[in-house]
Amino acid sequence: MGKMDAPEPEWKHRMAANPTNRPPGEAPDWYRAGLDHIWRPYAQMKSARPPLPAVATLGSRIVLTDGRELIDGIASWWTACHGYNHPHIRAAVEYQLAVMPHVMFGGLAHEPALTLARRLAELLPGDLERVFFSESGSVAVEVAMKMAVQFWINRGVSNRTKFLAFTGGYHGDTTGAMAVCDPGEGMHRLFHDLLPRHHIVDLPWDEASIAAFECCLEDHAQELAGIVVEPLVQGAGGMRFHDAAVLRRLREAADRHGLLLIFDEIFTGFGRTGTMFACEQASVVPDIITLGKALTGGTLPLAATVARRHVFDAFWSDDPAHALMHGPTYMANPIACSAANASLDLFEREPRLRQVAVISQALRDGLAPCRTLSGVKDVRVLGAIGVVELERIDDVEGLRARFVEEGMFIRPLGNIVYLTPAFTIGADDLAALTSAIVRVVTARSS
Ligand SMILES: Cc1ncc(COP(=O)(O)O)c(C=O)c1O
Repeated sequence: MGKMDAPEPEWKHRMAANPTNRPPGEAPDWYRAGLDHIWRPYAQMKSARPPLPAVATLGSRIVLTDGRELIDGIASWWTACHGYNHPHIRAAVEYQLAVMPHVMFGGLAHEPALTLARRLAELLPGDLERVFFSESGSVAVEVAMKMAVQFWINRGVSNRTKFLAFTGGYHGDTTGAMAVCDPGEGMHRLFHDLLPRHHIVDLPWDEASIAAFECCLEDHAQELAGIVVEPLVQGAGGMRFHDAAVLRRLREAADRHGLLLIFDEIFTGFGRTGTMFACEQASVVPDIITLGKALTGGTLPLAATVARRHVFDAFWSDDPAHALMHGPTYMANPIACSAANASLDLFEREPRLRQVAVISQALRDGLAPCRTLSGVKDVRVLGAIGVVELERIDDVEGLRARFVEEGMFIRPLGNIVYLTPAFTIGADDLAALTSAIVRVVTARSS
């Protein structure tokens, strides 16, 4: 290689090192042999298009086995906030893998978890200071719900087992979490007879919804353990935004009725809405907060349920039965905690929130032409979330494939086309994403 030649991209080395990857065009052996043995998420596998065989990631790019590089607009379900393969996270993971990949968290403690817990407590507002680790967002929500119910049981109140949650909300796929999702949503409907009943109302933002919310509280506050909400943005339910005033109203109502307020920041946490946590924009401190997704910068599964001091105090007792009865096997996995610590380093060392502000403006400018197109209901941007809401999308699979033809990984959801890119995405890649959306939506509307 001459001195001036650019080095081969790393993914090319990796592809070469794995002879079962066969570019271009032809599906590799592992793909053909394995496809009939996987069960895909949220997919009617009989009619769904086959998944794209990915072989490598780098920055904001996903490389397919045929050598195509897609610009990633989704950051792998909103996790990879520093882009893929960040060398700092990778170094931390490699070090921890060599030293101690895993030990159980029952009866043992380790530096990556304790450091991460301390750092999260320092970053979060108020006295959100007691961290319970798990491995997925859904489990973090389950833990928050158990914490809230047992908070009351430990104080001698056994009938507060219900939650107040909101239409448009999404909190995960496990049974407890599903039960506080939007009841009109597919999974919820399907499992209606399995799920415990909670009270689901519209977010209180106008006169009618405030009245309905207050009415529900008047009627049911005595059986409620708490209120569960995704602050500022209801993500998977359609990237619906609401005002910070709504969150202040929830805090006030929770205080008035003595309820625990749970903010699910699994999507909104770690800069996505423009501040490190969405709750900062409302100056509201919830009693419990759930974190996940971008916690490890999109490298490893890890989630956290963080409680305020007064919540934890209800579990601090001479009675063994007052302990929180939960403990996932891979709780506080040291490699995942090291990745999360490295991710927090990057938030400290690199100008992530400034990058979010720049992305926000670019999304606003780049998606603006969609506003006047027929079939477009709304265009909205908050932080590094850009949304084009369409009247309807009939062929979501076809639309997704159209974006792949454009060289973009963009996954329309329900009736929205949205972008949640890595905060490190280059201006050209971001412009390519927004232009592709404008092009594709224009073609649909003409
Ligand atoms: C707000 C929110 N809560 C909970 C979850 C569930 O997280 P996980 O998929 O890691 O279980 C999600 C996932 O999209 C989410 O957006």
